[in-house]
Amino acid sequence: MKKHICIGVSGGIAAYKACDIVSKLSKKDYEIKVLMTKHATEFVAPLTFETLSHNPCYSDLFDSNIEDPIEHVELARWADLFVIVPCSANVLAKVVHGLADDFVTTSFLACHSKKMICPAMNVHMYENEVTQQNLKKAKELGYMIVEPETGMLACNDVGKGKLASVDTIVDAIDACFEQEKKLTGKKVLINAGPTQEDIDPVRFITNHSSGKQGYAIAKAARDMGANVTLVMGPTQLDDLEHVNTVHVKSANDMFEAMKDHLNEADYVIMSAAVADYRPEIVSDQKLKKDDETMTIKMVKNPDILAYAGAHKRENQYICGFAMETENLEQNAYKKLVNKNCDMLIANNLFTNGAGFNVDTNVVTLFKKDEKICLPKMTKEQLGVKILETLKEIEEGNKSC
Ligand code: PMT
Repeated sequence: MKKHICIGVSGGIAAYKACDIVSKLSKKDYEIKVLMTKHATEFVAPLTFETLSHNPCYSDLFDSNIEDPIEHVELARWADLFVIVPCSANVLAKVVHGLADDFVTTSFLACHSKKMICPAMNVHMYENEVTQQNLKKAKELGYMIVEPETGMLACNDVGKGKLASVDTIVDAIDACFEQEKKLTGKKVLINAGPTQEDIDPVRFITNHSSGKQGYAIAKAARDMGANVTLVMGPTQLDDLEHVNTVHVKSANDMFEAMKDHLNEADYVIMSAAVADYRPEIVSDQKLKKDDETMTIKMVKNPDILAYAGAHKRENQYICGFAMETENLEQNAYKKLVNKNCDMLIANNLFTNGAGFNVDTNVVTLFKKDEKICLPKMTKEQLGVKILETLKEIEEGNKSC
């Protein structure tokens, strides 16, 4: 399957080098679509990119020739990687602060795939404290940065700010996809999202999980070459291509679906927020509000992770999650041990950028003999980290 790359070109003299990059990438196993800011079109004509990429070039958000009025969102969805090259100081500032007023910045903001920035600008603009803070913020947001080089700049100043070489940028793009082969032949089973526990035909009990974390792990596992099954509670997310997605509603449904795939899985990752309890009786008619108070008797749901841990087969590796609001370390270790996991990922609901419904997470990774506090990263980067760590644990076991 060809990888899809959006190349966003911003206004600067280095825009001409983006032509060479698009030409080189198009000759490899990538499909390229180019998006330009208005200023970039002053340096290079869109037709050049259309010819090199064999695809339309997007530069005018309000172009009436574009059939889909939300093409920027479609492009964002289409991309496996979004690279801004060259990235001017202005566009860098916009994308780290969520400003979106042209094809490049709107699509970049809407894109949840891997993102790369290749800055190029005058040395004084580059060294300015504001630009440095923006670069720091870009790194915190998980964007890969291909650092500019030092040399003679177009304005005759000498210093850092020259776009990295075409080969360096193409190599960095290739490296983004290199991790793919790491899990070829592996079967990965993941659960994600909330569960819904019916009270009556109208109401149910659920939680705030969006499914984003498990979905991102499934995407990372697929991109690393694994055969992936994703068992997912009710969410707003579209099915991922080349991932076997099983949709479920309740904890009991999720339990059954997980059991169907458990034995064949090499790695099992449980990020779902499974309801611990369900109403004992589900009314077939809508409950009436006749009384001032209402009591619903709840019964315990199966603990899917504990079941998987208790039935773990040889050469199978299990990663659980823990959503905590206090005593994170103590509670996480307890779950790691009690549920027979090889690894446990703990996130705290009250940490900024962590947990429910955001695109990032801030977690502590617990292995049986090690604890690693990870910085804030995208949920997909965390997916890669989890999968790489499970592989290391497996390889460590084999060499013992
Ligand atoms: O979906 P998002 O919006 O992206 O949010 C991600 C997340 C916050 C849901 C995710 O990062 C997370 O923390 N998932 C685990 C949430 C949770 O239910 O934690 P817990 O501490 O209650 O459960 C511990 C572990 O047991 C989890 O792996 C859970 O899937 C599992 N479990 C819990 C109860 C149950 N009945 N069966 C289970 O398998």
